[in-house]
Amino acid sequence: MSKNLVWHNATVTRERREKMNKHRAKLLWFTGLSGSGKSTLAHALEEELHQRGCRTYVFDGDNVRHGLCRDLGFSVADRSENIRRISEMAKLFVDAGVIALTAFISPIREDRERARGLFPHGDFIEVFVHCPLEVCESRDVKGLYKKARAGEIANFTGISSPYEPPDKPEITIDTNQRSVEACVDEMIDALEQRGVIPTRVV
Ligand code: ADX
Repeated sequence: MSKNLVWHNATVTRERREKMNKHRAKLLWFTGLSGSGKSTLAHALEEELHQRGCRTYVFDGDNVRHGLCRDLGFSVADRSENIRRISEMAKLFVDAGVIALTAFISPIREDRERARGLFPHGDFIEVFVHCPLEVCESRDVKGLYKKARAGEIANFTGISSPYEPPDKPEITIDTNQRSVEACVDEMIDALEQRGVIPTRVV
């Protein structure tokens, strides 16, 4: 970091933004294999939260790699830098009062723990999107597992590159043989229980 930098504190604070938004600002960090349902779940949850008047934003692995992280590949070092940039960006969004949702494979535990370390306790909510490799591979939505098995893609997560599941994720969502709606419902319940969003009136 350069020297001679002075942090400027905003008068419009995160607390004031949260009060105006009527919900807490948080980072929901989705992690899981390619094809496990991270992006699908994050976007479906965002839709539900948006309809409830929450301010949200989804950062999606494939999308971010078109711009902010277009210079990065899939080596361990590049994935680590990918996660660093996204977590710093998400931190700004949380400061802006937003419920940020990130959908990155983020396969290395240490990278995720470093991201967690940027946030005050309780603001980083790790969501393990759990789905067995065989099921992700059979879904093969993008046709990438087939290419990886054929040796056409190097360092493919789960095939030729590791995935380290979280030890103690705040939330685990099993997407195997469950509808997107059921998974979103489970997420909403978990967010209500944590006081992130107001409880729905039934
Ligand atoms: S991460 O490991 O750095 O967190 P990220 O979530 O940004 O990965 O990108 C994953 C997406 O990139 C996958 O969903 C897939 O579409 C694509 N992709 C391309 N090459 C690979 C690879 N070698 N391993 C995993 N995903 C890949």
